[in-house]
Amino acid sequence: MSIDIAVVPVAGLGTRLLPATKSQPKEMLPVGRKPVAQHVVEELAQSGIRRLLFVTGKGKQSIENHFDIDGDLITYLRESGREQELSELDFERQDVEYFYTRQRRQLGLGHAVLCTAPLIGKQPFVVALGDSIIGINAQSDIVARMIDEFERSRADVVVAFQEVPRQDVSRYGIAQPRGAVDDVFELERLVEKPAVEEAPSHLAVAARYVFSPEIFNQLAVTPPGKGGEIQLTDAIQLVLGAGGKGVGVRLRANERRFDVGNFGSYFQAFVEFALADPQYGDSLHAYLAQRLETR
Ligand code: UTP
Repeated sequence: MSIDIAVVPVAGLGTRLLPATKSQPKEMLPVGRKPVAQHVVEELAQSGIRRLLFVTGKGKQSIENHFDIDGDLITYLRESGREQELSELDFERQDVEYFYTRQRRQLGLGHAVLCTAPLIGKQPFVVALGDSIIGINAQSDIVARMIDEFERSRADVVVAFQEVPRQDVSRYGIAQPRGAVDDVFELERLVEKPAVEEAPSHLAVAARYVFSPEIFNQLAVTPPGKGGEIQLTDAIQLVLGAGGKGVGVRLRANERRFDVGNFGSYFQAFVEFALADPQYGDSLHAYLAQRLETR
């Protein structure tokens, strides 16, 4: 059976988005009409994921509530003839199962993934960051392509990459490819936030991964890195350093990554999704054009 389980870490504190995230998770901030987490789930479902394991934490209950089936709301909308609004709840009936575990201490993304080891066991799995959307309106099948590549090349790690401008490389984990870079390439190692002149490529890690369970062995021995946190990138590095096979898959031009981890890219994400809205996109476009002329 092909990989159908994804770990979605959503336990981070989101301090870069304060005060918006003081009492609500950043993964529940709206981007267009839907919260970030719903965009992520719809994208994963589109790629064949059927089991979603969220790693949650303090103050994140609204994520669980969002994916529950709300019988009272459905009855109310049905009885008051609000068919349009009722259809907005169709996502509750997606063909996926939800599971939740908690990261009891905020020890970083790598630690959040490690918390799932007893549940994932010995099967390969996807990791999709709960604060990052790939492509507009779940059109991306990047995770399906990564799973295909994982199985075809018998990889230990597959990482999604996006091309970023040269001056931005020092904000990301950057790929050092082995050999030629095409849509799919062999990954020699990852370089965390390199200086512009030292970056081995312009390919930045893009929030989606496929792992063999070997990642858990390496996470368990990964020393705390920056900020005292266990970094997922460090564990990937250990897998590759121990002779594990790494593969990179590039995002396509229409698969932009929207990182809802800071206000700059959150604002951009919201505008892009609002402009793509079938009902309000055109009028927003006209408004913005006029607004920018008079700026
Ligand atoms: P970030 O690296 O942006 O960390 O998380 P953060 O703690 O949420 O944000 P800041 O730096 O305080 O603003 C990337 C993804 O990993 C999850 C987050 O919820 C987010 O979806 N994460 C991060 C965890 O699940 N646990 C952690 O300890 C850290």
